[in-house]
Parts: sequence; structure tokens; C-alpha cells
Amino acid sequence: MTFAGHSELNEVLASCRPRPLEQPNVLKTLLAIQQTFGYVPIIALPQVAHTLVVTEADVAGVLSYYPDLRTEQPGRHVIRVCMGESCFANHGRQVLRAIEEAVGRLNGKVTELPRFTVERVYCMGNCALSPTVAVDQDLHGRVSPDDIRSLLERYR
Ligand code: FES
Repeated sequence: MTFAGHSELNEVLASCRPRPLEQPNVLKTLLAIQQTFGYVPIIALPQVAHTLVVTEADVAGVLSYYPDLRTEQPGRHVIRVCMGESCFANHGRQVLRAIEEAVGRLNGKVTELPRFTVERVYCMGNCALSPTVAVDQDLHGRVSPDDIRSLLERYR
């Protein structure tokens, strides 16, 4: 394995190894890996399957089913733009377009870890304050396209 986080991965997997008579929890394990690395490296799947005593197809199935799990290393900050019904009806698409344009300008060269990664999500439980945007763990409601520049400036 050429994955640089090999020893950290071993630690995560050791904490997720099922005890005797316990069912393996693939989702919990993948979330723990993402929590540690920011994503789930595809190269780790055989080791996850081996640790949990499941097939690689089982792991890949869970990984592809849950949109919150990502397989690419994200930028320093993850922007989640809600495209759920309420946010979409309240100009969410214009907010998304403004964010994508701003991020296109703000991200560094292709060879650098980008400053931002943009993801679409479908309802963050903040519908009353739609449209909603989350940057990392911070939830922002009633976001307008005009707010995007100052919002993103807070995240270096
Ligand atoms: S639809 Fe966007 S927060 Fe619910």
C-alpha cells in the first residue's frame, strides 16, 4: 500500500474492529476513516474489508450509497450548498452558481490542495432559514449570492 496515512488507518481500523459476536459496521468504519483523513481513500478498501471480515463489494456498496462519503481528498474547507426543496425554491441555484464562480477564482493552482471543495446536499434541516450553506461545521442561513464573497473570505 502506498497510502501515506497507513499507520493512522491501522489505528482507525483497530478501533472499528468488531468484537466477537458483534456485526461489522461498515458505515461507522468509513465515517471514522473520513473523519481522520477527510475522505475515504479507495486504496484502503481491501484493508477495511479484511478488518471487518466482509467483501470489498460490501464496502464499495456502502461507500457509493452514502453521498456524505467522499473518495477524493477535499480542499482545506468543504462548502456544502443545499439544493433541497426549500433552498432550491429560495434561489439556492443562484447561490450555488455564485459559490462555484467564487471558488473557481479563489482556489489555487491545480497542483495545490485547493482552498475549497463544493458539494451539493439535499436538506440540512435548516429550511426555515433557506437557502442554506455550510462551510466546514458552520451553518449559514438566508444566504444571498451577494454574501458569498465576504462569507468565503472568513475561511483562509
Ligand atoms: S431544503 Fe435546504 S435546509 Fe432544508
